[in-house]
Amino acid sequence: LDEATAAAEAMALANRTHKARGNRFLVDPDTHPQTISILRTRAEPLGIIIDVQPVGDAMTDDCFGGLLSYPSSSGMVRDLTDEIAVIHDAGGLAVVCADLLALTLLVPPGEMGADIVVGSAQRFGVPFSFGGPHAAYFACSQALQRSIPGRIVGVSRDSNGKPAYRLALQTREQHIRREKATSNICTAQALLAIMASFYAVWHGPDGLKNIAAHSNQQARRFGAAMIASGRSLRHNSFFDTVVIETGDDRDNLLSTANSAGFNLRPLDGAVAASFDETIDDVKLAAITAALGGVLEADVDDNVPANLARNSPFLTHQVFHDYRSETEMLRYMRRLADRDLALDRCMIPLGSCTMKLNATSEMIPISWPEFADIHPFAPSDQLQGYQILQDQLCKWLGEATGYAGISLQPNAGSQGEYAGLLIIRAWQRARGEGHRNICLIPASAHGTNPASAQMAGMKVVVTGCDDHGNVDLVELREKCEQFTDQLAAMMITYPSTHGVFESEIKNLCDIVHDHGGRVYIDGANMNALVGTAEPGHFGGDVSHLNLHKTFCIPH
Ligand SMILES: Cc1ncc(COP(=O)(O)O)c(C=O)c1O
Repeated sequence: LDEATAAAEAMALANRTHKARGNRFLVDPDTHPQTISILRTRAEPLGIIIDVQPVGDAMTDDCFGGLLSYPSSSGMVRDLTDEIAVIHDAGGLAVVCADLLALTLLVPPGEMGADIVVGSAQRFGVPFSFGGPHAAYFACSQALQRSIPGRIVGVSRDSNGKPAYRLALQTREQHIRREKATSNICTAQALLAIMASFYAVWHGPDGLKNIAAHSNQQARRFGAAMIASGRSLRHNSFFDTVVIETGDDRDNLLSTANSAGFNLRPLDGAVAASFDETIDDVKLAAITAALGGVLEADVDDNVPANLARNSPFLTHQVFHDYRSETEMLRYMRRLADRDLALDRCMIPLGSCTMKLNATSEMIPISWPEFADIHPFAPSDQLQGYQILQDQLCKWLGEATGYAGISLQPNAGSQGEYAGLLIIRAWQRARGEGHRNICLIPASAHGTNPASAQMAGMKVVVTGCDDHGNVDLVELREKCEQFTDQLAAMMITYPSTHGVFESEIKNLCDIVHDHGGRVYIDGANMNALVGTAEPGHFGGDVSHLNLHKTFCIPH
């Protein structure tokens, strides 16, 4: 989904497979703040303690793992081998957040002993778009592959002996393990993952290395110019991010850069400048001059020799075959011809079949006005986005009948999780924090029980009648049985079998009467928009899946 969610999934994987004694997870302080914040949220209901400290003495045998970043959040490149060894010595697993583009030049974390490597695929040709959606990646050692969240697709042979792709491993899938599932990951931002992979197909390993070398070289030239002008850098070894020490002068530098048309990242007593493939000499000269520096043509390498990558990557033929526009075009056409897509027929994919996506909705997302905004841009540059978001929240509020809307969670499953945490917090706030039972109909989508257990709730399944509708008699019995412990009920409306259950209001009333809140899974909301509002027929919280009711593809 995104780097922070992938990091949280890695922490959960480490927690269920480690050999250490305790429930502490160490996070290096130089980690992206959004990652630390998601780790904290996901850790609490699982009883995990997040400890933000450098790996070293803090890594004791009550820690089941540690997370490092490579390069670090502030851009430092360092050899992680020793820190990973310290984590292993304490019986823990080592998770590394790594930048894919940097890995084209740097020794990959797997070669340093990392057990799990995660990160974002955004910089492989996917615009910022004010923060997403973007695809994340998740990689682990072979020893852990049976515990990996989600599914692994492998190459097999069909009955005619031809190569065919099939689901090879899905041991943790929610539809099999239900409330015992350890992850609720469902939608995988496939479109964004395909965009990123096509970026790699088009450039190949050499092209990617050139892009990485360009970004690194421009960063080094900028860094050298800053040193020559009397400033000092926080790190000598970096890939694409240069941190300039500013002391008290930070805000001055931020506004000077801003007046020249550049945003720098404010840090504690420092500013950071990051360089990517789009930074040409003209732009580089402009930002350097704005900060009082003069560029040299080239400067020395700044990555330690022992960190230079020697191992090959992207060795599959597909990353080597398409180097002209027509070859690439024909390849894409060949793939598209095999696709069962909306331009041919209805997509036979459960509730996702009910989507309203129009092809024209895909066009605006590539407009620079939408695509080029960085998620951490200063708020005075985000007024357009702010208006769009305010309008969207207002419209979604009207469509759903709810008082407030969050645009934050990145998928239906994450919305379920956030919604259940809200219900949990609400129960706590009114002194009913002991309520932890979540009723879920037997027909529910697998993410529902998985999200409930991740939110620290205990799943109780309630039965359905012969038509697939929630059995109200059984529901009443269960509510009475758990009247002192009921936290929530999750129900999909219209149901996963495509029916508007006529007793929905009744059902919500029964749950409310027993102190529970109703989570209406809004995956099928497009059947309701303009017709009925979950907030009015008894729902307390819902998510909407953008790839089902609104415009992004699955
Ligand atoms: C009923 C239902 N709930 C939840 C989800 C999970 O949504 P997402 O795939 O966006 O995580 C789905 C997705 O298929 C669904 O059909």
